[in-house]
Amino acid sequence: MARHLITSAIPYINGIKHLGNLVGSQLPADLFARYLRGRGHEVMFLCATDEHGTPAELAAAKAGKPVAEYCAEMHAVQAKLADGFRLSFDHFGRSSSEQNRRLTQAFAKALDEAGLIREVSETQMYSPTDGRYLPDRYIEGTCPNCGFDSARGDQCDNCTKQLDPVDLINPRSVISGATDLQMRDTKHLYLRQSALKDELEQWIDTREGWPVLTTSIAKKWLNDGDGLQDRGITRDLDWGVPVQRGDEPWPGMEGKVFYVWFDAPIEYIACAQEWVDAGKGTDWERWWRTDKGAGDVTYTQFMGKDNVPFHTLSFPVTILGSGEPWKLVDYIKSFNYLNYDGGQFSTSRGRGVFMDQALDILPSDYWRWWLLSHAPESSDAEFTWENFQASVNKDLADVLGNFVSRVTKFCRSKFGEVVPEGGAYGAKEEAVIAELGARLKTYEAHMDAIEVRKAAAELRAIWVAGNEYLQDAAPWSVFKEDEAAAAAIIRFSLNLIRLYAVLSEPFIPDASDTLKAAMKVTDAGWPDDIGGALSALPAGHGFEVPENLFRKIADEEREDWQARFAGVRD
Ligand code: 2FM
Ligand code: ZN
Repeated sequence: MARHLITSAIPYINGIKHLGNLVGSQLPADLFARYLRGRGHEVMFLCATDEHGTPAELAAAKAGKPVAEYCAEMHAVQAKLADGFRLSFDHFGRSSSEQNRRLTQAFAKALDEAGLIREVSETQMYSPTDGRYLPDRYIEGTCPNCGFDSARGDQCDNCTKQLDPVDLINPRSVISGATDLQMRDTKHLYLRQSALKDELEQWIDTREGWPVLTTSIAKKWLNDGDGLQDRGITRDLDWGVPVQRGDEPWPGMEGKVFYVWFDAPIEYIACAQEWVDAGKGTDWERWWRTDKGAGDVTYTQFMGKDNVPFHTLSFPVTILGSGEPWKLVDYIKSFNYLNYDGGQFSTSRGRGVFMDQALDILPSDYWRWWLLSHAPESSDAEFTWENFQASVNKDLADVLGNFVSRVTKFCRSKFGEVVPEGGAYGAKEEAVIAELGARLKTYEAHMDAIEVRKAAAELRAIWVAGNEYLQDAAPWSVFKEDEAAAAAIIRFSLNLIRLYAVLSEPFIPDASDTLKAAMKVTDAGWPDDIGGALSALPAGHGFEVPENLFRKIADEEREDWQARFAGVRD
């Protein structure tokens, strides 16, 4: 039994996530966690909400709520949806926690002591009316390029030109509308990432088997232009982790907070502390401190490709630069983007299907199956309603659901709701055992390598093998001549259902639970050998015909959803 630490990129607090966000990190992380638990390993699976930064402040202002209150509410909403999608986090934390505040401040102190922090003077827009410095997104004005009158300080949404707040004509505060803005000098802390460039490069070069998507993005940032740049890790905002050197004030940094991307990944560690403080465990250090037992932990991170630079460079600088024995990531699994019906999913424009809407129309297994079996691994992928309907109807309803239904109903009508005796397994069964033995090895290899689509395809092939066997063995015909032979076929098929329940659990946990309950499975352990697993339910073992496992999506429904989700969310 090995020990696995798994983290998913922590979703921003501002709003409900769409299916593209879900499949880019949390869902495949859950697949991997469930698989490893299924194989008997010890797993710590952590995620949290990313609650600091300008977007959180702006979203709270839009909702007309104090930001702390807004975050608490949205955390509860996201936690409930995570539950709805059966994301099996050991803890779903919050980057605004006390634990993260303390740890972030402690990291800053350690980095400063290691000589990796320098102070930089900058000029920034100050609004006397608002009594604060304004980050770029808090300033609007007329675009010098196209004349659009609501261009933001960082970019014009009309002509897409990247801007600096000083470029804007007639700049004004987004908060108050004030126009008496001033340029003022302010000081910020910079993390000297450049000092660790060689160490990082060497570390990345020695990672074996990392996805090309991950290493190519890291190398690009390491070597593009002037190479790895130092990075500002403080902001003039109210909401965030106050800049302190551990417990001590940081002279000159009063009223400032750490940049959200500095404290967010530290929350991966703080989350384990929150897990202990929530009474769910007793020792977080054995997951995170190599001097306290984390030396034998394998740590895997999941994220979308836009997050890769922060996880291959910035966060490792924090960890390595601290000089403390923190666990570094062992494997980074990154994803491309999922597009939506000919365009992009967009949170700001409300385009696509969002987690709450998805669960309103279908149970989570339907979505989990489609999303995982179409995960954007080697390239961007696209969600279309036609493809979703086809996948659900074919894979889940026709292949898996139909197999379960035919076998259990036939058994009930001919032998009752118990596994029938019949004779020994014959050549047909042995052939299936041999095929599934090989397929199981392939399935495990894909899951171990986190090749999500390939694993899904192999699982589907495992279901198909059962269907083809049943079709070929045709117990309904055999029954007329030889009841005992038909009974053996059904005994074998009922055992296949039990096996499917075990192997499918990482992808479709609810269906797996339904099947285990129906088959009255007490030992759902991962199979060592298929022959043994297909004799696990002995003759005389009771079962129940499960409710219709998966229903089909009708054309009218598909059209209805297509139309309903064509526009933008209100
Ligand atoms: O891209 C995002 O959704 C970020 N909130 C991810 C942060 S991951 C980590 F570093 F905490
Ligand atoms: Zn413009």
